[in-house]
Amino acid sequence: MDKFRITGGRALRGRINVSGAKNSALPCMAATLLTGESVTLHNVPYVRDIITQRRLLEDLGAHVLTPELRTHKITAAHIELFEAPYDLVKTMRASVLVLGPLLARFGKAKVSLPGGCAIGSRPIDLHLESLKQLGAEVSLEAGYVVARAPRGGRLRGTTVNFDKVTVTGTENLLMAATLASGTTTLNNAAREPEVADLAELLNRMGARVRGAGTPTITIEGVETLGAAEHTIIPDRIETGTFLVAAAITDGELELKDCTPEHSSIVIAKLREAGVEIEEVNQSTLHVRRSAGGLRASDITTEPHPRFPTDMQAQYMTLMTQSEGRSRITETIFENRFMHASEMQRMGAHIAIDGRTAVVEGPTQLAGARVQASDLRASASLVLAGLVAEGETIIERVYHIDRGYEKIEDKLRGVGAQIERLRDSVTSSLPPIAEVGVL
Ligand code: UD1
Repeated sequence: MDKFRITGGRALRGRINVSGAKNSALPCMAATLLTGESVTLHNVPYVRDIITQRRLLEDLGAHVLTPELRTHKITAAHIELFEAPYDLVKTMRASVLVLGPLLARFGKAKVSLPGGCAIGSRPIDLHLESLKQLGAEVSLEAGYVVARAPRGGRLRGTTVNFDKVTVTGTENLLMAATLASGTTTLNNAAREPEVADLAELLNRMGARVRGAGTPTITIEGVETLGAAEHTIIPDRIETGTFLVAAAITDGELELKDCTPEHSSIVIAKLREAGVEIEEVNQSTLHVRRSAGGLRASDITTEPHPRFPTDMQAQYMTLMTQSEGRSRITETIFENRFMHASEMQRMGAHIAIDGRTAVVEGPTQLAGARVQASDLRASASLVLAGLVAEGETIIERVYHIDRGYEKIEDKLRGVGAQIERLRDSVTSSLPPIAEVGVL
């Protein structure tokens, strides 16, 4: 398994281009199953989860052309399989996103239950309950969810009230409802920018979706969807991660190709913590530490537009470098503090009390051998390595390869001392040069 070796203590200076949002590209790729015509997606990040999603679509029978590394032309004209198998769902939970589109277009779908996952149990009961409200018959067979459209083959539009905000649940229902008969209203829908991006693609394909990005989404069902071309929004979590990287290393970065508007709460919180962030224009941020230094500030993770759980771990690294005591409360996922014990091994002062982590800072972190446990936890350890004294080895970086495009190259480009120690047998991600056009 690949590792990262980081020698800390270098201030990062320069420019970084932010990649497309993985969490938007994944549902958009699933949405291509809603039509037999070609859908072209641009700005798709080159990360492991996208390769997994592509494999799933190809296994189902879709044809995927990649004229450029980050452009995928997907044609789902001849779908022969209607199943997301256990092997894929267990490595990437977002493969459940094929459930809604398959059910809507073909009237049947079979998806493995995700099972346990490193950051909590993460059930899909809300996806299933709401699909049932659209008339789907759902049963569980040998670890698989088997869903069928009602007699007549079409789901029926209705009002769905989500008990809890779920991002992929909202996306599954949004896709399913586009081809349902009648109108569907989703209440308490997720407001994440990735949901709005998916709705934009669907509308380009001929769907009639209104209100995406607000808690109430209305979808007027149509008979068929067609060809479209769409550019994926920038990754707001990658943006936030690099904002923290500049601040903790006392460097200065310009982030290009981002959407500051999607990161407003993170920007506001980082400013509170002493990070100077300037919106140069609609797609560029300039960031450095303020003259007064970094100071402790509390956060609580909540659904968008509040502080994202996907930035919690990286924020914790920032707090280890900030003056004072901060409280970080995680309300979305249980068991999402696994990075804390690794940071403690690097010398951080963090006490966990249930869903709250109390961080005392600042501490001079010391390089150590640490293990990445999930995608965002890995990012927080990379950040910790950048400020630690001496050498940090991060094991299991396949987690970070799931969602950050070439993070070591981007960081090295702005002065970080970071290298990938490649395991030639199990290397997580082939270098772009070796892949060429997929
Ligand atoms: C998505 C993101 C992930 C992010 C998360 C929260 C993608 C591909 N992934 O994950 O990066 O961390 O949103 O912002 O977009 N829940 C249920 N039943 C369900 C569904 C969810 O109880 O049927 C619970 C979950 O266990 C969790 C909460 O609802 O406690 C939110 O989860 P959800 O928004 O569904 O996360 P994902 O869509 O899996």
